[in-house]
Amino acid sequence: PKSPNNLNLRELLRRVTYFESCSDLELRQLIEYGYRQLFPAGQIVCQENEPGDSFYIILTGSVEVFSQRAEKYIATLHDGEFFGEMSLLLGIPRSATVRTLSDTILFVVDRNDLQKLLVEHQGLADQIAQTLSERQQALRDL
Ligand code: CMP
Repeated sequence: PKSPNNLNLRELLRRVTYFESCSDLELRQLIEYGYRQLFPAGQIVCQENEPGDSFYIILTGSVEVFSQRAEKYIATLHDGEFFGEMSLLLGIPRSATVRTLSDTILFVVDRNDLQKLLVEHQGLADQIAQTLSERQQALRDL
């Protein structure tokens, strides 16, 4: 199998559960809604309390979510998982800081495009809605 680094964006998106059964047309459209960005290990992607403008899906690599305010580790997220949804959907500042644990390729979706993406990918929208309330609860329990 090809190393993930040699996969093009369409192939990387195809490996994400929510997009597995997308047609080629849907995938081509999906690519219009975002862009891939490589973050080296140890880089901060979202900073707690800052305004949020983008939503992220991890294509390869991993990130750590933590709270500087509470001085607590929150979670580790891997390929196929997403973050950055809370501030966009709830209209609040970033709830936590997110930092890459390894070199990480992200699919970055800006605010306006997230709405369009969610209308067209109901499976992802449903998962985000469910995860959002679980994550809110976990933050309250910190
Ligand atoms: P946002 O608040 O935009 O920016 C920080 C992100 O960290 C947040 O969106 C979520 O995507 C993520 N996050 C916050 N709390 C948790 C949690 N309990 N588990 C996993 N991810 C979280």
